[in-house]
Amino acid sequence: MANKLFIPGPTEVRQEVLEALATPQIGHRTEAFKKLFGGLKPGLQAIFFTKNDVLISTSSGSGFWEVSIRCCVNKRMLVATNGAFSKKYADVGEACAREVERIKYDYGKAVKPEDVDKALAKGGFEAFGMAHNETSTGVTSHMEEIAEVMKKYPDVLWFVDAVSSLGGIKLEVDKLGIDICFTSSQKAFAMPPGLSMASISPRCYEKAKEVPGKGYYFNILDLKKEYDTDQTPYTPSIPHLYALQKQLGRIMEEGIENRFQRHAEMAEYTRGWAAKHGMPLFSEEGCHSNTVTCLLNTRNLDMKKIKKEMSAQGYSIDSGYGKLNEKLEAEGKPTTFRIAHMGDLTLAEIKELTAALDPYMGG
Ligand SMILES: Cc1ncc(COP(=O)(O)O)c(C=O)c1O
Repeated sequence: MANKLFIPGPTEVRQEVLEALATPQIGHRTEAFKKLFGGLKPGLQAIFFTKNDVLISTSSGSGFWEVSIRCCVNKRMLVATNGAFSKKYADVGEACAREVERIKYDYGKAVKPEDVDKALAKGGFEAFGMAHNETSTGVTSHMEEIAEVMKKYPDVLWFVDAVSSLGGIKLEVDKLGIDICFTSSQKAFAMPPGLSMASISPRCYEKAKEVPGKGYYFNILDLKKEYDTDQTPYTPSIPHLYALQKQLGRIMEEGIENRFQRHAEMAEYTRGWAAKHGMPLFSEEGCHSNTVTCLLNTRNLDMKKIKKEMSAQGYSIDSGYGKLNEKLEAEGKPTTFRIAHMGDLTLAEIKELTAALDPYMGG
């Protein structure tokens, strides 16, 4: 038996979704494919709370870092870096030869609207990128307040990495006015890795027309042209699309709001459990994530050993984001470890995990 995954991605995938991957294949230039692909749109739009297109890429979520930058930024963008993944977003901007200005935060902090305002006020930015939920630190930023700031800068596109939140934490794309919002299949969608989805606002397509060098695979204009006829420019991973069809059905059956509520309950329970053991959280007060809890290992527990012993009992847990822990260790500070409560996991399963962890917590 494989271990049950309590790591912040890939997350646990239920048997019927795994079975959907084994659906006999069809050609991707057939009516059957169009029916499959086109049928995914309403469910995705519901989960993204958008009327915009939700493009599907059979790449992991990192692909949409490149999409947003290579299709919609000619020269200069702003990125808020408050953890390892948002930092990577900024790094990708530079790897694509764009000028990137960073709003740098200490890890564990959320993105603050006043900082975004101050940075954007300098002018000259084509886009602002950020992570809604920093998986490395368990921090969720308050999007409504940032959305208010973005309204002051109507020429700046807003890109949101919602890789570890979308489908687990409510993020209303249209209400907030997000231009590109993207996520990966292997997080709160509780599917195998290999698929990513992004809402694209009409003004991104307009912008893309004036950006040269968009490349081939991630050109949103090509993707859009095919999307409108329920097709893809190239051969997609059809097994993943069947799995998505199955999973969207399951999500609708549960109810989207119920799904958010379940995540909130699992997170609240996990935070309570941490408090019971006197373990502080790494994330800033008021910004704790509902998909992943990041704890400070103030007791100097041997997490590597605990991880190994938990694995022997059938539970995969995370001993903290590697580079963050290395940095904390070098500074002589307590390191972190994370408990993910993301995807299709239930409160009962989280309780089962914490009961198994209890004997190791030392208090
Ligand atoms: C917030 C965030 N952004 C981006 C990524 C990269 O996504 P992927 O691994 O699907 O390419 C991750 C992966 O963990 C993530 O947590």
